[in-house]
Amino acid sequence: MKKQITVGVIGCGYWGPLLVRNFRSLQNCRLKDVCDVNAARLKHLSTLYPDVEGTTQPLELLNGSNLDALVVATSVKNHYSLAKASLLAGKHTFIEKPMASSSAECEELIDIAQRNGLILMVDHTFLYSSPVQKIAEIVQAGDLGDIRYINCRRLNLGLFQKDINVAWDLAPHDISIILHILDEFPTVINCQGNAHITPGVEDVTNMSLSFRRKRFATIQSSWLEPRKIREMTIVGTRRMIVYDDLRTREKIRIYDARVERPPHYDTFAEFQYSYHYGDSYIPYLHQAEPLKLACQHFIDCIETLSQPLTGGRQGLELVRILEAATASLKINGAPVTFSASSSEAPALASASAEETLQAVAFAG
Ligand SMILES: NC(=O)c1ccc[n+]([C@@H]2O[C@H](COP(=O)([O-])OP(=O)(O)OC[C@H]3O[C@@H](n4cnc5c(N)ncnc54)[C@H](O)[C@@H]3O)[C@@H](O)[C@H]2O)c1
Repeated sequence: MKKQITVGVIGCGYWGPLLVRNFRSLQNCRLKDVCDVNAARLKHLSTLYPDVEGTTQPLELLNGSNLDALVVATSVKNHYSLAKASLLAGKHTFIEKPMASSSAECEELIDIAQRNGLILMVDHTFLYSSPVQKIAEIVQAGDLGDIRYINCRRLNLGLFQKDINVAWDLAPHDISIILHILDEFPTVINCQGNAHITPGVEDVTNMSLSFRRKRFATIQSSWLEPRKIREMTIVGTRRMIVYDDLRTREKIRIYDARVERPPHYDTFAEFQYSYHYGDSYIPYLHQAEPLKLACQHFIDCIETLSQPLTGGRQGLELVRILEAATASLKINGAPVTFSASSSEAPALASASAEETLQAVAFAG
């Protein structure tokens, strides 16, 4: 029988207990310890899982408890210091999204993990979900034609965060999906937004990501919306997909719809757009909890010492986009351009600290 990987979870607020439940459900893993600086959260966890040990001292998990791996599910501002301490203590490390507060922090974590032969995984949960895997499969098979644009809306009332704005809170889901589907890094980011409730913390943002060949994606994120909306539209030259994550079934619908311009015409009277309305269909989706698959993937990567689908590199890419969005927010949505070397996927993977963001002011 294979040795079980022992895991501890730091941060038991809203998301941590879901990680605890999922790691506990895996056969080749033993969820041994949990930690939260808030004793009330630990009490809640010990009611749910009396056999799991709890502490308010992160150092006990980092140094003392013989764990193979640590999961960091605290507020974002603490991701870097805890993940760094975990890696330096020789533990494989799973960090919640977004990986850290800056790309410099992400680069350092990647470097420490690489030097010590440790698995570093970032929880970009949606990449483990059936709808996103199906969309990626359809796009990669060329069924949509060339992607023209992607539009995402992730809106609801709250939950207001204090240390990060809504783009850092909600947009990571959309960005991770977009990068995965397009398999390309954007060249330019624009982001506008406003802080209506907490001064300095934007609660509504509109981000746009421009890619080569005129492709672009827009992401609307809001904590100030009466309805909960989780929608993504992917428009290709041949077909289009609408993905509604709030539907219990039938989350994806594929539309055989497109518009074409006549190849040539001599007079304006001859000019006619050709609208194609074909069938729409709903592909079968396997029902599985994405977070459980993400946790299993982490354990599998530890056992086989293989690179996770969402490793440090993907975490860094995402944080670089969030940083660019923050820079653009400060200049009222003006474009922030990535240098040519960093906009090439997957070369960005080995992005160096020298790659700079250039804030380009609008000309007029
Ligand atoms: N993957 C997803 O779909 C998803 C969903 C929600 C949240 N998250 C991520 O999970 C993380 C936590 O989010 P949340 O909503 O659970 O936040 P939360 O505020 O509800 O919980 C964070 C917990 O961490 C504890 N904590 C903070 N600093 C600590 C430290 N140094 N040592 C030990 N405990 C500490 C806090 O006391 C709190 O209980 C964030 O990074 C968030 O972005 C991911």
